[in-house]
Amino acid sequence: MIKAGRVTVDGVVAVSPEQKLDPDFSVVALDGETVGYKRFHYYMINKPDGVLSATDDGKQRTVLDLLSPELRRMGLFPVGRLDKDTTGLLLLTDDGEFAHRVISPKSEVVKLYHAVTEGTVTEADIEAFRRGVVLGDGTLCLPAELEALEDGSCLVSVMEGKYHQVKRMLASRGKPVTKLERLSIGGLKLDKMLKYGEYRELTESELCSVLSKK
Ligand code: URA
Repeated sequence: MIKAGRVTVDGVVAVSPEQKLDPDFSVVALDGETVGYKRFHYYMINKPDGVLSATDDGKQRTVLDLLSPELRRMGLFPVGRLDKDTTGLLLLTDDGEFAHRVISPKSEVVKLYHAVTEGTVTEADIEAFRRGVVLGDGTLCLPAELEALEDGSCLVSVMEGKYHQVKRMLASRGKPVTKLERLSIGGLKLDKMLKYGEYRELTESELCSVLSKK
């Protein structure tokens, strides 16, 4: 395309594929159309039940299998994990540093879940979450927020992502989880327009909101 004179850099026809440019400032165009360059990519997917939060699994379907062939080739991976039967907001990116910051409890990014449980949450459960629940195996969890909803289900906000964390926290209070959905990560909410298995790229402001500790 460069040889055919179809590419311009800052309005000047490029003559060599070796030409160096600054991706943050140079405007590259093909046939007069500006070409975008993104170092990293950030998507949200509404994870359906029955799909693994992994890039590859010999036998079972993963969230990567739900993507278009072009996206599948981009090296995206899930930011943290949702259990196979957990639904809702899952981020996919190729930015390892971003993923680490979202997952690390040190970043204090709150993950909000809607849980349906056997039995109804009590004031004592809410207080226990506030203090920090001790799991069945003795693991101490960071303080978390628990809110009982009128329909008997509840909302749980946690900053860590231990294995089966929310399920084990509620189970430790005698309230086994029958359904779990993640609603938000930091200030980023699941786009309710996305049906199970659907995904879309984050906007700039949505990306910023992820680490905003809300
Ligand atoms: N906590 C759980 O128990 N499961 C999830 O998938 C996410 C948080």
